[in-house]
Amino acid sequence: MSDTSIRPQNMPRINTPELAQAFIYEKLDEINAQVGGGKVLLALSGGVDSSVVAALIAKAIGKRLTCVHVNHGLLRKGEPEEVCKLFTEDFPVNLVYVDASERFLGALAGVADPEQKRKIIGGLFIDVFSEEARKLHGVGFLAQGTIYPDITESKGVKAHHNVGGLPEEMHFELCEPVRLLYKDEVRMVGKQLGLPDSLVYRQPFPGPGLAVRCVGAITRDRLEALREADAIVCEEIGKMNPAPWQYFCAIPDFQTTGVKGGKRYMGWSVVIRAVNTVDAVTAQAVEIPWSMLTTIRDRIIATVPGVNRVMWDFSDKPVATIEWE
Ligand code: XMP
Repeated sequence: MSDTSIRPQNMPRINTPELAQAFIYEKLDEINAQVGGGKVLLALSGGVDSSVVAALIAKAIGKRLTCVHVNHGLLRKGEPEEVCKLFTEDFPVNLVYVDASERFLGALAGVADPEQKRKIIGGLFIDVFSEEARKLHGVGFLAQGTIYPDITESKGVKAHHNVGGLPEEMHFELCEPVRLLYKDEVRMVGKQLGLPDSLVYRQPFPGPGLAVRCVGAITRDRLEALREADAIVCEEIGKMNPAPWQYFCAIPDFQTTGVKGGKRYMGWSVVIRAVNTVDAVTAQAVEIPWSMLTTIRDRIIATVPGVNRVMWDFSDKPVATIEWE
């Protein structure tokens, strides 16, 4: 039998709507054949890969697909609402939305070490997802948004969708319909499925989310300022054509002096970052037009409470990493 985790050499690159449609038909048949009358569970992060898998499986089996969307409180502005709307109205699945923000922020309180923050978020994600999975009955399959680079880079499965982290008594058969696809092919399939461009062309977002951009120990005021400022940065820099590979902001854990009404006070700084890269191993800072920078600066200063300074991080990788932590 052939190894189904290796992309066949003669598999065409999905680079036209017709090829994407043919792939979709093939996968719908395969999913129906694999799942039969069974039920499928999926951790829906709202990223491109898990969303495409959700839409694909929803098309095949509808509400026999349960998607669990865990809000860890570290998502971008409007993200949970967008995911919930899409998979309730446009691709109706059995959607379980878990607002676990308080739990995550509580566990992260006072934790400054970046790797420790990642561990806490990863561990708690598995806990919350497992708790939800245990409440469901008759689920035989676990769907994952594994894509081909995840396999070739021998990560196997995504840390945040990690079947290996689920309790042993939970035996699921895996369903990974896009596991042989590259990212551009997943986007092509998503587009053909009718997912919105805002999702299909979404920039990569780290699993631990805003946690690695809210430098040091996360505080709620800084996290909210970051979320608001990030929405402005994404809206403005998203107007560039082509948009950079990743663009966002970070908020350091120190304050600097500001002045308002003749009075000095301490406030937070927001750091803008935009990079281009092919593989995220190296990355180049993107030149942001001055007029765009000043628009971002003015909008942030006018609307984000507690922020009195805006900076631009134009460091390349190496030696700076893309994320601040
Ligand atoms: P760095 O900061 O190492 O990031 O240059 C390289 C790419 O990886 C993303 N990144 C992460 N993705 N979990 C993720 O899922 C993480 O903990 C994480 N840390 C960094 C980062 O956004 C960039 O695209």
